[in-house]
Amino acid sequence: MNMKEIFQNNQDWVASKLSIDPNYFENLSKGQAPEILYIGCSDSRVTAEELMGVAPGEAFVHRNIANMVSNLDHSSAAVINYAVKYLKVNHIVVCGHYYCGGVKAAMESQDLGILNPWLRNIRDVYRLHRDELNAIEDEEAKYKRLVELNVQEQCVNLLKKAEIQLAMDERELQVHGWVFDIGSGKIVDLGINVDEILKGITEIYKLT
Ligand code: CO
Repeated sequence: MNMKEIFQNNQDWVASKLSIDPNYFENLSKGQAPEILYIGCSDSRVTAEELMGVAPGEAFVHRNIANMVSNLDHSSAAVINYAVKYLKVNHIVVCGHYYCGGVKAAMESQDLGILNPWLRNIRDVYRLHRDELNAIEDEEAKYKRLVELNVQEQCVNLLKKAEIQLAMDERELQVHGWVFDIGSGKIVDLGINVDEILKGITEIYKLT
């Protein structure tokens, strides 16, 4: 890819925005008030804003390999804390995607060095749901289901956080689990029942 092309694209984009609204960037510079925190995969095919059709300023975004909400990851923890406590988002979306390389790697026996501890979180998801997954004979179907279960478990990981528990007691904060289907371009809502999950884990994970 030619970097000059990117700067030309940027100039074209600035011009197109200004042609619609001469104050577009001036207004954008005044601050942000996004209503959504989007946590997705770093995969280059799964763009956050474009697939949701949202504009700059509308979504606070965190992306990492396989859309993880890992307990010891300070980066995602800081993003979630800032989004919930200060930006006061109303929605948190964990968006996985079919054909996720991170999930695929976690299904195979191979030593990937620095990626091992990260991908081990997905192996833990597999272990938690081993009976369901091992009952699926078709490898493709099993892979897809692990993508979905990984999203579900990352939603559960969100509910284990103090700031999320506190926010849910005080105001409307919804957690959503989605999968982006690269093959069709569609977002699939997994319909994760957060209230039900909360009831099941409160005894162990309630902090507030
Ligand atoms: Co991925």
